[in-house]
Amino acid sequence: MIDEVIQQIRYISLNLYPFLIAKVGLKNALVELVDKSFKKEKYFYSYYISDDIDAIQKDKAVDLYRIMQELFSNIIKHAGASEINIEIVKEVRYYCVKVSDNGRGFNYQQERTKNTLGLTSIIERVKSLKGSVDFRSGKEGTQVSIRF
Ligand SMILES: Nc1ncnc2c1ncn2[C@@H]1O[C@H](COP(=O)(O)OP(=O)(O)OP(=O)(O)O)[C@@H](O)[C@H]1O
Ligand SMILES: [Mg+2]
Repeated sequence: MIDEVIQQIRYISLNLYPFLIAKVGLKNALVELVDKSFKKEKYFYSYYISDDIDAIQKDKAVDLYRIMQELFSNIIKHAGASEINIEIVKEVRYYCVKVSDNGRGFNYQQERTKNTLGLTSIIERVKSLKGSVDFRSGKEGTQVSIRF
């Protein structure tokens, strides 16, 4: 049963999302994800996603998409935030991703000791992007920066 579910998830993550990204482009897919996640009365959100990111190759694009999904789902589930800001830009040698919320924050080091699925999957995917990730969280909220 669990195996089947995992198979299904693999199938979806390997097939459906590349299709969406291939069809509308990574930028449009991400804009859609941002709007779908935060276009609700309780959120004030803004984003800047550079057109350059459509040049990211398919496997990496899927990793980035999945990372953003998990970051957004954590904000929705845990942060109790009212403001969210998202930025994805191409610097000279790197892509830079910043996601911040003004929610309750959490103790990152302490959460990592629990080895939970969401944060672990983000870290694994950043590794497969050969990138780095930094979580800063406190009373003013959470800022996640990724470079790859
Ligand atoms: N943006 C955030 N604001 C506040 N707390 C957060 C945020 N992101 C993560 N957390 C905290 O970190 C914990 C671990 O996150 P993680 O995504 O690994 O697990 P989860 O969301 O609880 O479960 P899962 O992702 O498997 O559904 C969360 O339970 C939550 O307490
Ligand atoms: Mg999570």
